[in-house]
Amino acid sequence: MKAKLYYGSTCKEKKEYKEVRSPYDGRVVSSFGVCDATDAKAILEIAHHAALHVKQIPLHQRTNWLLDVAQKLERERERIALCITDEVGKPIAFSRVEVDRCIETIKLSANAILHVNGETFDTTAMPSGKKSLAFYKREPVGVVLAITPFNFPLNLVAHKIAPALVAGNAVILKPTSQAPRTAYELVKLFIESPYASKDALSLIYSGEGVNETLITSEIPRVISFTGSVGVGREIMQKAGIKKVALELGGNAATYIDVSADVALAAKRCAVGAFINSGQVCISLQRIYVHESIYESFAQALVEETKRLHVGSPYDEKTFIGPMVNEAAVLKAKRWIQSAIDEGAKPLCGFTYNGLLCAPTIMADVNESMAIVCEEVFAPIVSLIKVRDYEEAKNKMNASDYGLQYSIFCNDLAMAQRAIDELEAGGIVINDIPTLRFDLQPYGGIKQSGVGKEGPYFALLDDYTQIKSVVIC
Ligand code: SIN
Repeated sequence: MKAKLYYGSTCKEKKEYKEVRSPYDGRVVSSFGVCDATDAKAILEIAHHAALHVKQIPLHQRTNWLLDVAQKLERERERIALCITDEVGKPIAFSRVEVDRCIETIKLSANAILHVNGETFDTTAMPSGKKSLAFYKREPVGVVLAITPFNFPLNLVAHKIAPALVAGNAVILKPTSQAPRTAYELVKLFIESPYASKDALSLIYSGEGVNETLITSEIPRVISFTGSVGVGREIMQKAGIKKVALELGGNAATYIDVSADVALAAKRCAVGAFINSGQVCISLQRIYVHESIYESFAQALVEETKRLHVGSPYDEKTFIGPMVNEAAVLKAKRWIQSAIDEGAKPLCGFTYNGLLCAPTIMADVNESMAIVCEEVFAPIVSLIKVRDYEEAKNKMNASDYGLQYSIFCNDLAMAQRAIDELEAGGIVINDIPTLRFDLQPYGGIKQSGVGKEGPYFALLDDYTQIKSVVIC
């Protein structure tokens, strides 16, 4: 099926289409109209004009708009889940979870806007202050440019467009080229809703000059990007004076203390390391284990990992489907091989069948190996023996990234230290760092990015701006 280009309210056909193939069996599953700088310029103008109207729409209409989309998505759950599986190879059970999360994200956005308000302040607090009615209000920023990745091709779109629209902005969405139809299906629901504001949402696909034109334009006042550090850095450099929110990579880690429930930790770590074939920004990549329980934990983790079914993403019992493309598999193989060449040992995994990669646990690694210090974005996890929490903390914090960390322990003082001392945007106690609730503030520090997602926080940080008012 062709994913058409939504040019504001008009659905356009393009001359040149690019095919998208299933990562699992290579079938052509969708295609998208290749765009260019001319499309980007036209869409920027449409969004620029639309922004003037969308902010005038009463709030109840904007929240009804989102609730209408959420309701329709519930009815389309199975079809859209299949679309995700077709395009990115996500196991069908998890594609359904993603649709459910997307519905929640949209509903949360409709709710969060009700809590985004201004405040009055007393200007006589300063001796020089004159009695007046002083307050600030929040306004939409105008046009938002949203650029989204393949690993959660539906819910990460919702995390950007739902809060941005309900705040009264116009949005230009440029989704991943791997999942154009998933994005199109969601955009279509927004555009065809009876509550929609005309031209408030546009969809544009990749093509020559598209990114450059959109990013460097003065029209978007905010760019919200989720993807790699390299692209994030490039956007930051080219964007000029506008707000840029970046959700970038990570190499999430956990510490398993001697006081932890080892069986529970092993079960959860297998999930955190291998869900979505490790293609998650908060995928568990480094496990620091107290030396006294290292052997028993390693054995339990291998057992849990061997239970995970690797195979067709259309099979209900599959936990690990294919990786997104050959380049991703080749990178994983290269990094594992280079670690082995330096003395690391695979405890399990390290086998491949096309784009299906068996979950791989690596032992005897060191901190300078790419599988440890870079973002692997593949089903590979490293086990590292440590003396104590202190050593684990120092090793975690030595990373260039800082998205999410976790600790398994039954020691309240240690948990409190971890909350204070681990350098990351989010800390989880007694579960994996791969945990994300869609209402939470989500976003990293260091090279992991700037800004927070989570509808309420994105509304405050990115999709509204403060206007200060003084009535004398
Ligand atoms: C991400 O990969 O950053 C998104 C993780 C999630 O939403 O669960």
